[in-house]
Amino acid sequence: MAHDAEKEAAGRESAKFVRDGDVVGLGTGSTAAYAVRFLAERVQAGLKIVGVPTSDRTRELALSLGLTLATLDDYQQLDITIDGADEVDSQLRLIKGGGGALLREKIVASASKKMVIIVDSTKYVAQLGQFPLPVEVVPFAQAIIEKKIRAMNIPVVLRANTDGSPYLTDEHNHILDCHFGAIADPDGLARTLSDMPGVVEHGLFIGFAATVLVGRGSSVEELHRG
Ligand code: A5P
Repeated sequence: MAHDAEKEAAGRESAKFVRDGDVVGLGTGSTAAYAVRFLAERVQAGLKIVGVPTSDRTRELALSLGLTLATLDDYQQLDITIDGADEVDSQLRLIKGGGGALLREKIVASASKKMVIIVDSTKYVAQLGQFPLPVEVVPFAQAIIEKKIRAMNIPVVLRANTDGSPYLTDEHNHILDCHFGAIADPDGLARTLSDMPGVVEHGLFIGFAATVLVGRGSSVEELHRG
């Protein structure tokens, strides 16, 4: 519950980064949902924005709150994206995808002038990798990618629904949760994974976050990249 308060505080703070007229990437997950709610409050008070959701879930939430939405077909450049993360390190490198939306999240972030990440204090880590790294794969290539990552001595778990069927992303791919434990070289690992045919995207977000807002107790710490 304490972490929920930190998520809420970071979400509230992030809404202040949005300006009138902005096209805003709307992230996915419990922390991003706070940001969407606070943005909706600002819109009710007169702010004019257009939101580009990073998942079907976020689209439903934003529509229920009355936000005006668009897609990347309408806007190929966004002013800002606000999203959560599963882990953040001191260089503002991220692991994302715990909620399964990493592919659309990375595409939307790549189209944004600025990405603001909001997390509770438990997500700020000395080294990435304790959180299992999600790797989104086309189902056709799943077994071969699983084998390649296992050959690196890394336990791999196919993400599944409660009935045991493979979890399907919004883009109808599978997710392999890869238990690295500690990732010594995130940049190198990102390249290795991207080079595997059949990997659609991985949850390492390097060079994306410009600002990270970390909820700490009732305050919010603001971190900036380089
Ligand atoms: C969604 O795919 C993820 O990238 C989320 O941003 C991440 O898992 C954080 O989620 P919570 O805010 O729910 O912890």
